[in-house]
Amino acid sequence: MKGIILAGGKGTRLYPMTRVVSKQLLPVYDKPLVYYPLSLLMLAGLRDILVISTPEDLPQFRRLLGSGEQWGVRFAYAEQDQPRGLAHAFLVAAQYLAGEPACLILGDNLFYGHGLPDLLRQSAQLRQGALIFAYQVKEPQRYGVVELDAQGRPVSIEEKPARPKSRYAVPGLYFYDGRVVEFAAMLKPSARGELEITDLNRLYLERGELQVRILGRGIAWLDAGTPESLLQAAEFVHAVQERQGVMVACPEEIAYRMGYISREQLCDLSRHLGDNSYRDYLLRLAEEG
Ligand code: TTP
Repeated sequence: MKGIILAGGKGTRLYPMTRVVSKQLLPVYDKPLVYYPLSLLMLAGLRDILVISTPEDLPQFRRLLGSGEQWGVRFAYAEQDQPRGLAHAFLVAAQYLAGEPACLILGDNLFYGHGLPDLLRQSAQLRQGALIFAYQVKEPQRYGVVELDAQGRPVSIEEKPARPKSRYAVPGLYFYDGRVVEFAAMLKPSARGELEITDLNRLYLERGELQVRILGRGIAWLDAGTPESLLQAAEFVHAVQERQGVMVACPEEIAYRMGYISREQLCDLSRHLGDNSYRDYLLRLAEEG
């Protein structure tokens, strides 16, 4: 399975912050937003990761993330010329995926919580159908909403419904089998002119091949699309890190713990970071072994 981070879009809800900087490069406390979804794909065990962004912003992502070799993974980059929708990512990624299953994560989504790494590794084993998640929220009408029957099987899925049939929003993390590009190519743009991920998920639902797993309240799901939610995300990360002394979404740490890089390589990476608490953290990890 290959990973995709969709990190384009206009970020209009964050103007003027995002007039000249990609939303996914804005800081969430002590690291760029894109580190959070990236860390999630790494925790899922995915090592081939495509970063999609706008033609203007893509060079910055390349500068920040490079080839991936430093973290024992392989990054590739692709442009999305216009924000043509979340499902459009699979048309952009068609060649890259070459028929392989894919995990898509939105560049502004942050997940954190107990049991997540196991859940991610299991989900990355998917070879048939699609797997999405359901997360109870206060305002489901802002999201894709999935309705479940008594056995937890999906019954319907709707994009930003005025009258949601459940309180389960669909977070920006999706797993698909090797047919996803073919299915994405069947979609027509919605009224807002986008290829909707909800329509893609419905294609799987109609074939009886959509699985939905509930993400419980022990897991935090945040997005950083508005000034308020960006601040909340930063506060969340700050609170967890201060209290526990562990980092949320540190790619160097994940690479080290997954065995992708050695202790020497970890020390080496820390040398290029300047004098700051991020570097001190990496050095402490290396010392602890
Ligand atoms: P949104 O938050 O729906 O859109 P946006 O980032 O353009 O923000 P705004 O609504 O404030 O203008 O997008 C969710 C994520 O998906 C975000 O990380 C940007 C990304 N995205 C793309 O990369 N391409 C797209 O075509 C769309 C619609 C979103």
